[in-house]
Amino acid sequence: MEKNYDRYFAPSLREARKRIKKDIETIRFEFPENLIGLVKNKKYLIKTYGCQGNEADSEKIAGILENLGFSETTQEEEADLILFNTCAIRENAESRVFGELGRVKSYKKHNPDLLLGICGCMPQEERVFNIIKEKYPYIDLVFGTHNIHKLGEYLYDAYLNKEKVVEVFSEEGKIVEGIPTKRAHERKAWVNIMYGCDEFCTYCIVPYTRGKERSRSFADIIEEVRELAKEGYQEVTLLGQNVNAYGKDLNINYTFADLLNDLWEIPIPRIRFTTSHPRDLDDATIQALAKGGNLMPHLHLPVQSGSNRILKKMNRKYTKEEYLEKVAKLKDLVPGISITTDIIVGFPGETDEDFEETLDLVQKVDFEGAFTFIFSPREGTPAAKYQDDLDSKIKKERLHRLNKLINEGYLRGNQRFEGETVKVLVEGPSQKNPELLSGYTEHNKLVNFEGDQSLVGKIVDVKIEKAYTWHLRGIIVENHS
Ligand code: SAH
Ligand code: SF4
Ligand code: F3S
Repeated sequence: MEKNYDRYFAPSLREARKRIKKDIETIRFEFPENLIGLVKNKKYLIKTYGCQGNEADSEKIAGILENLGFSETTQEEEADLILFNTCAIRENAESRVFGELGRVKSYKKHNPDLLLGICGCMPQEERVFNIIKEKYPYIDLVFGTHNIHKLGEYLYDAYLNKEKVVEVFSEEGKIVEGIPTKRAHERKAWVNIMYGCDEFCTYCIVPYTRGKERSRSFADIIEEVRELAKEGYQEVTLLGQNVNAYGKDLNINYTFADLLNDLWEIPIPRIRFTTSHPRDLDDATIQALAKGGNLMPHLHLPVQSGSNRILKKMNRKYTKEEYLEKVAKLKDLVPGISITTDIIVGFPGETDEDFEETLDLVQKVDFEGAFTFIFSPREGTPAAKYQDDLDSKIKKERLHRLNKLINEGYLRGNQRFEGETVKVLVEGPSQKNPELLSGYTEHNKLVNFEGDQSLVGKIVDVKIEKAYTWHLRGIIVENHS
């Protein structure tokens, strides 16, 4: 334990890299009774960055805080606890948070009781952890991705005993079931099916920040989805860094496709999942998707690059040809399926020819959307040490050319729905124009249309009048209540 800290545990990159073969225990979380309602008249604000995994974690954090007696606020000025749930995937994700940490410090002047905390993937990185410790000593609470369930204890120490709490574990712990959850949406829910990642793509920090791949028991997942269906949820998104590897660590001969087939029978209108790894996407999963029903006709299938040479250097374990083969199968068995992807440009050593291969693949697949990124070296990952002598101007040009092609695909993917009637799960007022309602179709397309607030949370029929690159404009046809 370090001087000045009452609770201190620092992460280690070496530990985070380790994969120990052992069964992961599942425990049931019981909220400590002495902590329920401990805090009076205090407000919290959580700022969430990064992937859906972090959004799901923030819902658990919120659940714990509400049990402690906190209530939520959206106003920084009135918060008694500001917690940053952070992402480490690229450098710009991190610099944004460092900027914010500097900015919110001033609130402490007005509210000396204000607690500032950081959690999620950034503190899991040894380098970042040390920066937080040295440059941001006024941060009261630092914890990671493996110990969210201990937040009640941490706040007890930090808040009531005025102690500084710094506890980041590198080794993943047990699977903790039953953490209270305050869901952000009323009709859409995240459901973790697994945690961690064992892929070790050479550019990626996630296997270090999230630990070993470990699946929840299918009985727990099915029970959670059943419960959500009973509560009136319309859509569930199954979460994992590589959902197609679901169950492999459990040695129970039950795969992701088996899970989809079981969930297919539950009366909940929509099931989605993210993220799929192309190598592990198997025929049984494609066949499950082909059954339709509540399994939505959209697949996010990150390809990262179209060059076999680069894919190999990325440790993605598939070739361009294998990827295209899976896409062909998907399009054949699930007619009309929308396929989206993630692509990295400027990976170390990427030549013009490699990049052309990526453009060629984009054209061949006809993606209907993509998240595109310039490679960002992450300390501790193998690719951070690869020689990277490509000019940043060239990387930007490549990104620009790629985005142009991707946007054409976005528009084409939207245009195919002009004149069609589609089902839209209404989320609320459109962000750009609050006079309109907006929601997503089964193919995951954003639709704006005029309609009454009472439709929020329902699935309605909308006739598409016009397609734009980023959204569809439609007119309501009929209301299914
Ligand atoms: N588990 C998911 C994705 C997780 S990260 C998967 O395997 O597909 C989301 C996306 O961020 C990745 O698909 C990749 O395109 C991008 N990404 C990850 N690490 C990156 C890095 N170091 N630089 C740039 N982009 C990165
Ligand atoms: Fe990162 Fe690869 Fe794991 Fe996705 S599959 S989280 S890109 S290591
Ligand atoms: Fe970011 Fe961690 Fe998710 S690094 S993308 S928040 S797993």
